[in-house]
Amino acid sequence: MENLNQQKNKEHYEKVYSRYSIRNILWKINHLDFFLDTAIKTETSWHGLYMHDFTTKLKGKKVMELGCGDCTNAAVMAQLGAEVWANDIADTSGKIIEEVNNAQEFENSIHFIAGDFLRNELPDQSFDIIVGKAFLHHLEVEEERLFLKECARLLKPKGEARFFEPAVNNRLLDELRWYTPLPGRRPSKWTPKKFREWKKQDPHPDRSFSSGHFEKAGTEFFGKVETYPVGSLERFHQLLPARKPINNKYRQWAFRNEKYLPYFINRSFARSQLIIYREPKEW
Ligand SMILES: C[S@@+](CC[C@H](N)C(=O)[O-])C[C@H]1O[C@@H](n2cnc3c(N)ncnc32)[C@H](O)[C@@H]1O
Repeated sequence: MENLNQQKNKEHYEKVYSRYSIRNILWKINHLDFFLDTAIKTETSWHGLYMHDFTTKLKGKKVMELGCGDCTNAAVMAQLGAEVWANDIADTSGKIIEEVNNAQEFENSIHFIAGDFLRNELPDQSFDIIVGKAFLHHLEVEEERLFLKECARLLKPKGEARFFEPAVNNRLLDELRWYTPLPGRRPSKWTPKKFREWKKQDPHPDRSFSSGHFEKAGTEFFGKVETYPVGSLERFHQLLPARKPINNKYRQWAFRNEKYLPYFINRSFARSQLIIYREPKEW
């Protein structure tokens, strides 16, 4: 039986993915170098998840992706030579994977685990790598704890769990973000009634997204926890006109240069973060 937050996520994402065309995925994995190079240079989630040469770590590895969504990343990892397992609360993700498996000859087809991942019957230490791209922050804190515990059980001793998630380390910047209008995506807090209506169906629970939270949550189950801020300069691309070459150019410049800023500035201004958990503790 799903809780309210899970129901909201399922309802929301079943709709989103039912409109998804696998032609998009097939194009990306058949132009993989071009796609990954561009995405890593300009798109926050790809830039963050693939930090520290992740592309080169996948060949021959057994990888679990949580919250696989439209399944683009699962297909990219399979095309890079990983044996990919994937789970999402939305059943539509499973249908996308079935279609992609039929259309593409991977070294290993992608396995989909439908429904509640916490009920899986996979043996201990099944995976070299566990990933989530914009996944953990969709869970309520207690559910996240159970997922992290399960990740520690399923990970091999030398494996890593890597999550790309939003970062909210600065209240003022976060508040300013909610007041910035994003036409076509969500109302801003300048229109409180519309904002409240939008929030009711928004599939993000009210909870902490701070780096400190993810660090503390991880130390219960892992010996080593690292967080890397992403987007301290890139986040300001929203002030430039969308879908114009200048926006992409700015993002590339920002990603190249934000690493030179002092750590405390990056951490405070980051829009997102890469979280890596290693050395799973035994339970
Ligand atoms: C923001 S989307 C990210 C999707 C994909 N990883 C991407 O990068 O495009 C979050 C995903 O998490 C899934 N999700 C939310 N709660 C979940 C749960 N309890 N178990 C499994 N998947 C869940 C949603 O259905 C959705 O596909």
